[in-house]
Amino acid sequence: MAVTRYGLCKSSLPRHVFAAMSITHPTFIKPSPHPLKTSPSLPISFYSTSASLSATKHPHKSKHPIVSLLDNCGVKINKDDVVRESDPANNVPDSIFSKLGLQLHRRDHHPIGILKNAIYDYFDTNYPNSFLKFDDLCPIVSVKANFDDVLVPADHVSRSYNDTYYIDAQTVLRCHTSAHQAELLRKGYTHFLVTGDVYRRDSIDSTHYPVFHQMEGFRVFSPDEWMASGMDATSYAANNLKKALEGLAQHLFGAVEMRWVDTYFPFTNPSFELEIYFQEKWLEVLGCGVTEQEILKRNGKMDNVAWAFGLGLERLAMVLFEIPDIRLFWSNDLRFTSQFSEGQLGVKFKPFSKFPPCYKDMSFWISDAFTENNLCEVVRGIAGDLAEEVRLIDSFTNKKGMTSHCYRIAYRSMERSLTDEEINQLQWDVREAVQSKLNVVLR
Ligand code: PHE
Repeated sequence: MAVTRYGLCKSSLPRHVFAAMSITHPTFIKPSPHPLKTSPSLPISFYSTSASLSATKHPHKSKHPIVSLLDNCGVKINKDDVVRESDPANNVPDSIFSKLGLQLHRRDHHPIGILKNAIYDYFDTNYPNSFLKFDDLCPIVSVKANFDDVLVPADHVSRSYNDTYYIDAQTVLRCHTSAHQAELLRKGYTHFLVTGDVYRRDSIDSTHYPVFHQMEGFRVFSPDEWMASGMDATSYAANNLKKALEGLAQHLFGAVEMRWVDTYFPFTNPSFELEIYFQEKWLEVLGCGVTEQEILKRNGKMDNVAWAFGLGLERLAMVLFEIPDIRLFWSNDLRFTSQFSEGQLGVKFKPFSKFPPCYKDMSFWISDAFTENNLCEVVRGIAGDLAEEVRLIDSFTNKKGMTSHCYRIAYRSMERSLTDEEINQLQWDVREAVQSKLNVVLR
């Protein structure tokens, strides 16, 4: 499957290789103050100007109001604090703001919430009264918490504006739940599970969405625990970790084909990924490893060893509930939501009907700054969840050194048939936006 952003590239996924080669770093012209400190309070719930304009133009869009202020994990967040189009240090679009605070993982009747609860059950049964659970930590975190505290190198690809949503130069939408490791360690916790929404700029296909949910697990051991085993601390923790996660996989799936793959994360050593066989592909569902000693040392745990894992809830839920497309998790259509109930893990999703996709191709000369993630953001900005896939189908460089890309966009609604007229209009708008926002020349 894909590269974990912290892991090593696997050659099967060229799109990530493209992304990694073409990162752009906008210069910070104006460092902005921390958003949460300056928020005046505005009334909740009115349509943003752009939403209401496009609502008249495209009836399929903006059925949901874009609120100007939301209460996220007890923190009041203004839209203007998170989305600032004119600020080059900010790359959060409206479509992402509208997902903040939805907290699918806290809905007991939603597949993501059902899965979270099933994982809680596993830990409660096997480690009674040990793991503390957090599912309400604010997704707006400092660059320090998201990257520095977990030893992500200064030049690591995941820090780029191409990969991560920046609110300002010091503040991001967390791109993993590992952003909370250090803070919780400092508070003295030794066994914890953190569940939350995480945000990544990414490509468009059936298993990638710019917002998804992770659960982080963390366990600290004291010397007497590994000494009694006769093993060295690292082997003891690695062993314990793999057993815990194999047990979890079995608890969730019963029999499923899985494999461990060695990998790299800045915050663990050794590091592993667990992959599960799904839809004729190996799907990476979690990353884990033995926590780097430096993280423990910096946070008051000198004489300990620990393990950590980060697990993608959508990936697991897609397999367990047979949900074929990641966009469905965000559907409010009763034909989706009514199929799931509290405590019912692994009820098989019944597609309510299969609507045909419509493919449109678009070719353009790219500039040096072009990235596929930027293209996908523009496509989602126009087509929203109607964009099913954006795929590079052709690329060549001419004698003058100009490079052309041809992308095929698949449009499909999960809920209804789309009309030709609607798709043509969407494609027209996408072309216009791509040309004006991405500095490319359409062919
Ligand atoms: N944070 C990693 C990711 O998002 C997952 C991970 C968590 C890996 C903890 C190791 C330990 O890809």
